[in-house]
Amino acid sequence: MNGKFKTIAATALLASLSFGAYAQSAAERSIQYRQGVMRAQGWHLGNMAAQVKGDKPYNKDDFARSATFVSQLLQMPWDGYGPGTETGAPTKAKAEIWLDSAKFKADGEEASKAAVGLAQAAASGNMDQIKVAFGATAKACKTCHDNFRSK
Ligand code: HEC
Repeated sequence: MNGKFKTIAATALLASLSFGAYAQSAAERSIQYRQGVMRAQGWHLGNMAAQVKGDKPYNKDDFARSATFVSQLLQMPWDGYGPGTETGAPTKAKAEIWLDSAKFKADGEEASKAAVGLAQAAASGNMDQIKVAFGATAKACKTCHDNFRSK
């Protein structure tokens, strides 16, 4: 390929890649992003819940992997709550998120801390510790949902 053709090909590729993004509003993308991260958290919390309850055999590595993912994922959704993302796509985010953003942030940090504790307990493999830390994490998810997510 000569240089000029490469540039044209690269430009065409970029245009096709970004088309999907431009077809959506910024608010819609933010809402889908934050819901996607939440769904991933739900997936991995569910995997751990099944093992804590005994619905699925406990596997130390698998459990620890999910705990680490949740602790990392909990740092991510907040980018999706910028100004102007109250509406723009179906959402259960309550207006209080933007009216009391300090409380929303505090609930997020509380959950983050609990999830880091869960990842540590998961690395130890001690089921008594894991159960306590899992309960604290699930409770932190619920607290924020009670405060900031509509039914
Ligand atoms: C600081 C607040 C907060 C914390 C902490 C939080 N969530 Fe959420 N979550 C929300 C809000 C707000 C929504 C609604 C988002 C929307 O619809 O735009 C939501 C939505 C969800 C959804 C539904 C996503 C969808 O649209 O399908 C799941 C699943 C979920 N959260 C799981 C979790 C789990 C699991 C945890 C804990 C590990 C957690 N959340 C922690 C605020 C929080």
